[in-house]
Amino acid sequence: MKLTITTVFLCLVFGFVSSCTHNKSTSTQASNTTDISLQSAFAPHFNIGVAINTQQANGKDRQSVVIINRHFDTLTAENDMKWESIQPSSNNFTFEAADALVNYAKSTNKNIIGHTLVWHQQTPDWVFEDANGNLASRELLLSRMKTHIFALAGRYKDDIKGWDVVNEAFNEDGTLRESKWLQIIGDDFIEKAFEYAHQAAPNAKLYYNDYNLYKAAKMDSVIAMAKGLKAKGIRIDGIGEQGHYGVEPPLKQLELSIQKVAAAGLTMMITELDISVLKFPDENNMGADISLNFVLQDEYNPYANGISQSSYLKLAKAYKDLFRLFLTYRQDIDRVTFWGVSDNDTWRNNWPMNGRTDYPLLFDRDYQAKAFVQDLVALASEYQ
Ligand code: XIL
Repeated sequence: MKLTITTVFLCLVFGFVSSCTHNKSTSTQASNTTDISLQSAFAPHFNIGVAINTQQANGKDRQSVVIINRHFDTLTAENDMKWESIQPSSNNFTFEAADALVNYAKSTNKNIIGHTLVWHQQTPDWVFEDANGNLASRELLLSRMKTHIFALAGRYKDDIKGWDVVNEAFNEDGTLRESKWLQIIGDDFIEKAFEYAHQAAPNAKLYYNDYNLYKAAKMDSVIAMAKGLKAKGIRIDGIGEQGHYGVEPPLKQLELSIQKVAAAGLTMMITELDISVLKFPDENNMGADISLNFVLQDEYNPYANGISQSSYLKLAKAYKDLFRLFLTYRQDIDRVTFWGVSDNDTWRNNWPMNGRTDYPLLFDRDYQAKAFVQDLVALASEYQ
């Protein structure tokens, strides 16, 4: 906007100073996106995916569906393929929501990523218990793992392109997480999961998925695990870094981790990207441990009535920096998936503190693309 004496006067009078001092590309205002498509812009480079919820998969959330149809070529179920959704009690399989997602993806020609077969979260207690409520034996848990994987990955073996076979099995220091899976089965629970997944869905790509894999200690252990599987002839295709970041994403470390994955002959994916603009309540524990649950405090929820201009600019910069990195490594990166469609339904409004107003995604609460989305699209065209 050109600042004439009249506009300066009007701005001062009406108090719209900030809206008079920045141009469209730095505005927090949404832009008209009818002429852009993320999936088209990034098609030469990598897939652009999104995690969708039940209402989006079954078409009830129509405003989100418009965005999904236009901008994303790959779908992940945000929750509907997790153990608690698929097999809430023993041998009681509930595929309705997952089927809806698969049918939607097939009818719109989108890839499907399965999330997730083996995880310590969102897995009911019964899985780890015997009939008397004691810890299940190794044999019992392995047979449950196999039954579950065959039922789920087997059902969609011709539809699902790739599976997050194991989710979050490592600690930050690279040791194995003390989950019930590890405790009951032992170290080989990861390889068993990959073996069963390959048997159930021989054509599916198989991935290991985790957060904070930009941290060298954690990524080094994951790569060593993957090399170990490969040495035994067990299929593993790639590694997913979830990518739940803040407005200062760890660019340099992430770059090194992408290089390591590529050097190990594995594909890299960013599988759950979102960028919180809110302060993390415990800076020593940043990541994506879903069990974190801090009591709501106003000082941690400053943008309940709208994001500040400076935070918006930080968000835009973080996204642009990350996508410049992803584009630089486009040969090694297969897919970038966002964890949610719009700021309306992002899990980050409720994690790690319930009831906040966060702004981590590309689409705002009015289902409009944020202005910087155009910059991401423009960036994509700078790379051949
Ligand atoms: C989250 C979902 O977005 C929430 O709706 C749910 O309540 C908890 O799980 N890492 C993962 C995802 O691998 O499955 C998690 O998804 C976010 C962290």
